[in-house]
Amino acid sequence: MGERADVVELAKRRGFFFAAAEAYGGAAGFYTFGPEGAALKRNVESAWRDRFALKEDNEEIAAPTIMPEPVFEASGHLDTFDDMLVECAECGESHRADHLVEGATALEDAEALEPAEIATILEEHEIDCPDCGAALAGQEVEEFNLMFQTSIGPGSGQPGYLRPETAQGIFVEFPRLKEYARGKLPFGVTQIGPAYRNEISPRRGLIRVRELTQAELEQFIDPEDDEPPLETVADVALRLYAVPDQEESAPAAEGYREVTVREAVDEEVVASDWIAYYLGVAQEWYERIGLDTEKLRFRQHLPGERAHYASDCWDAEAKVESAGGDWIEIAGISSRGDYDLSKHADGSGENFTVFKQYDEPQSVLEPTVDPDMSVLGPEFGGDAGAVAEALEDLAAHDPDAFEQEVVTVTVDGERYDVDTDIANFEVVEKTEAGVHITPHVIEPSFGVDRTVYALIDHGLERDELGGETRDYLSLAAEMAPTDVAVFPLVSNHEPLLESAAEVVSTLRAAGFDATRDDSGSIGRRYRRQDEVGTPFCVTVDRDGLEDDPETITLRDRDTGAQARIPTGELVGQLEALRDG
Ligand code: GAP
Repeated sequence: MGERADVVELAKRRGFFFAAAEAYGGAAGFYTFGPEGAALKRNVESAWRDRFALKEDNEEIAAPTIMPEPVFEASGHLDTFDDMLVECAECGESHRADHLVEGATALEDAEALEPAEIATILEEHEIDCPDCGAALAGQEVEEFNLMFQTSIGPGSGQPGYLRPETAQGIFVEFPRLKEYARGKLPFGVTQIGPAYRNEISPRRGLIRVRELTQAELEQFIDPEDDEPPLETVADVALRLYAVPDQEESAPAAEGYREVTVREAVDEEVVASDWIAYYLGVAQEWYERIGLDTEKLRFRQHLPGERAHYASDCWDAEAKVESAGGDWIEIAGISSRGDYDLSKHADGSGENFTVFKQYDEPQSVLEPTVDPDMSVLGPEFGGDAGAVAEALEDLAAHDPDAFEQEVVTVTVDGERYDVDTDIANFEVVEKTEAGVHITPHVIEPSFGVDRTVYALIDHGLERDELGGETRDYLSLAAEMAPTDVAVFPLVSNHEPLLESAAEVVSTLRAAGFDATRDDSGSIGRRYRRQDEVGTPFCVTVDRDGLEDDPETITLRDRDTGAQARIPTGELVGQLEALRDG
């Protein structure tokens, strides 16, 4: 039977995806989704929207893809959204230096190293350019920022950037979004749309592209009070791979261990219940869209591997045969803490907090500290303002401490014992209805392109049918670009064409995405629909004049089995097959 079809070749031939602007030579890392691919991508996005927005009662927004520079200064992307670049002096090709190092050594998170350390490893391990074989020893390794820069408006304009993640469009709108949510936590905001990364070396098909589509949820929570509805996914089984200790040096274990979401929480494998919850939701969702769950696992990031904003992150990884059997990251579920909202509050001066009302008004002790030396007495030689601030902070978190004669605060590693009787230091009792808090963020972030690629890779099968080898795409019915294809047996027989058109209209009226195909032999039409994953084909082979006029043939994609059924039963049978 031989190897099954190649994913990239099939994608090009059958209109799933192909390199963009090829007529002009194209540019690496940009793909156009053809008619089948655009439909498959749309189905992935709809299923994601259904699960992560509608079922979770979250909102969806659509923010601009270009935002001004201060947004990315505040978010940290200008400073830290870099990859390690080495350019071959011989052939001029650019490479991810950290990936070359990981490929040649046992290191798993070379990203965490400094450029000079990477350069040393390139030299010590005699690593060569993958394109021309020239030695990379002695080449400069530099940090390369992945954001695409642009200029907003005419002339020199205002510097702007194409967003490298859809998330920032949600974070910057938090002051308005919290109003929409009436200031109540928890609430979630989703966005599906393009993000742009000037990747150093775009890779095979959709796996590493420069324009990608992300489906992201930013779940805003009060980390002290909000709990996820864990029981709804408690029994979902997860394959957790290489669970590292929290230690920097933890080696990645081989294999995986299967635990339920509940066990992952009870055994504290996952630091936050919210992360465990979304691992469970993601697992269920991947099953629903038909990813092969034998080829799905979740892997916790090593400390050096985490993005600049994340305190914990788990990747969903799919094993992709057409990428050499590699495990590819298809989603990341991160704990971003209050990093983004605090940064945007500092950067913009706006209010990125929510008001958390106490159940009952509480009396709080509010210190009034004179931020000059008199607070600590004339002999104090340190930064009195900083000590005063630390005292205010302590009073906010632990007002009882001020019942003592002396309170201790630490500033820049120095301990200060402060006499609470000192003049100019006053603690007043006030009644407060609540407190302003900066919410924390849990972020499930899905790559739509990689999901589409993995679905095609996992679904592509080769078998023998009727003595012939055939390739077919075993997509879940919900994902298939077309629900049902209708063929008139021959293409030059008007009554058959009319009957087929009628069947298509009936199916469309019943909500099926139906298409008519009347060109080529029936065998070729089946092959075409098999390769684009159409679950059912209907052949109209009676023209209303024969003995048994009211029947059609219904064929199943995966088995190739055909059944003759009354035309009037077609919709009911397809509905039963789809829903069952
Ligand atoms: N907001 C979080 C974030 O952007 P990420 O891990 O950088 O996190 C999320 O990206 C997902 O986007 C990844 O899991 C992957 O599926 C997808 N992705 C990232 N870069 C990509 C690229 N260059 N090409 C295709 N997909 C990519």
